Amino acid sequence: MQTSDRISRLGFGVFDRNDRLKDAYRRSSKGSNGFSLVDLSLGSSDIAPPPAAIAAIEESLGLFDSSTYCLHAATRPFRETVSEWCKWRFGIDVDASREVLFLVGSQEGTAHLPLAILNPGDRGLILDPSYPSHRGGMVLANASIQSLQLSFENNWHPNFGLLSSSHLDQLRMMTLGFPHNPTATVGHQSFIDEVMDLGVRHDFVVAHDNPYVDLALEGESPVLLRSKGWRERGIEFFSFSKAWCMGGFRMAFAIGAEPLISALKKIKSVVDFNQSLALQQGAIAALTKAPDWPIHVRNVYMERRDRTIRALTSIGWNVPIPSMSLYLWMPIPNWAKERGFDDEHLAAELLDKTGIALTPGSGFGAGGANWLRLALVLPSEELELAVARLKPWWNEQS
Ligand SMILES: Cc1ncc(COP(=O)(O)O)c(C=O)c1O
Repeated sequence: MQTSDRISRLGFGVFDRNDRLKDAYRRSSKGSNGFSLVDLSLGSSDIAPPPAAIAAIEESLGLFDSSTYCLHAATRPFRETVSEWCKWRFGIDVDASREVLFLVGSQEGTAHLPLAILNPGDRGLILDPSYPSHRGGMVLANASIQSLQLSFENNWHPNFGLLSSSHLDQLRMMTLGFPHNPTATVGHQSFIDEVMDLGVRHDFVVAHDNPYVDLALEGESPVLLRSKGWRERGIEFFSFSKAWCMGGFRMAFAIGAEPLISALKKIKSVVDFNQSLALQQGAIAALTKAPDWPIHVRNVYMERRDRTIRALTSIGWNVPIPSMSLYLWMPIPNWAKERGFDDEHLAAELLDKTGIALTPGSGFGAGGANWLRLALVLPSEELELAVARLKPWWNEQS
């Protein structure tokens, strides 16, 4: 049966292959060593959401309005809460009617945005490596996708100086995000200020994906809303998935220039209604009753980061200390390269021999090749046990 060309352009990425491998491993309960699966391949938090958020959802679940469709107008209490949070968190006034949009996860927003901005063939720029919805959304919009390579040598910082003026003139949109997944780099406000300034001067939209804004471990996260020019051509995405640990509830929001919010809302009106009002009550409670929950979450990740890096160093795997929570970004070891293993092959081998699932870096673009991402989504003791499990295999190989 025919499927669209864009389906083949989306392709079956390394994430699908990894998912199939994990599923097969789980179902056969095999592993050459009979180990159970330790899944560190997804940034899906094992930390509980704030109790106040869960209580608010429970209290509202039985209300009749919670089970009916929720059109945009009914999201007003949520949008007004976001506006107050924005004032408290960043000292910035935003208009809840015109500049805020409720989303079914920030991934949904970054994936749909190109459909709202680009015509087929228009140029969109992403970072390489980057979160898959940045590229995926541009594929859905039939964009001509360009990428700006990040490198370890440059601390995974973008060098916008590599983009010529004529290149910038042809761009219609750029999607990026700092703190950056998968490289676990916080970045600097100056990157975002620079790119927003370029967006205004060269007439392209800047989309800043910022679900980790509250999860910097070193330094301060960049925020597009602090950059001059966002009200002209900028939009920023925030999420309840990471710092409030509510990923399964699929709630997020965008704040941005009114024409962009309006265009994205139009696309969404074809695709979805909003999440239930009961879930929105949970999000409202998270922002109003547990605004410091991200601090608790950050401290948990800080301890996990430090203990896991110590454990890995003790077996000889030298991993750079990441400046943000949730992930380690690990170079594949020299012995693996000498044997011709790439990141995907090494991740498959690691899963088969030890039951530990990591994400191959090339799943985030060619710029992630030869790196593996480890999500710190288990308590420190279990992460240390995972490294202890890895040790005999590592010693045998190296
Ligand atoms: C950069 C980035 N954006 C978006 C998402 C997805 O967030 P949400 O659960 O809000 O869709 C992730 C999840 O890992 C991410 O790393």
